[in-house]
Amino acid sequence: MADRPRIAHVGIAVPDLEAAVAFYRDVLGIVPGPPETADGATILSLHFGDSDVELLAPLTTASPIGKFLAKRGPGIHHICYRVPNLDAALEACRVAGYRLVDEIPRRGAAGRRIAFVHPKATEGILIELTD
Ligand code: CO
Repeated sequence: MADRPRIAHVGIAVPDLEAAVAFYRDVLGIVPGPPETADGATILSLHFGDSDVELLAPLTTASPIGKFLAKRGPGIHHICYRVPNLDAALEACRVAGYRLVDEIPRRGAAGRRIAFVHPKATEGILIELTD
């Protein structure tokens, strides 16, 4: 159903893609999609039905994922929710006072429209919205 929010993907920050993908490929038998680049990271997408896990490895230490790894170490970086209408969801965030990282949607991996909500607004979880 396109009218209900879904989990689009969970982004996991990893220092080494090859090491990280081994579990998914060798234990779960999931073949990753081709690597993509976005926000200074190389991304490997692993498909789990309607939702993906994205392994995110930094291209530089100054990239968002590079900084996250330096501060927090490997782990869940963000959760992406697919919403029926991204513009409406962002407007609802603004009306409700949730702080946004991206005031207007921008292009993420695979050309999707995305926007991040600040983790301080959402119980410490960095939330990405897409449609
Ligand atoms: Co993402």
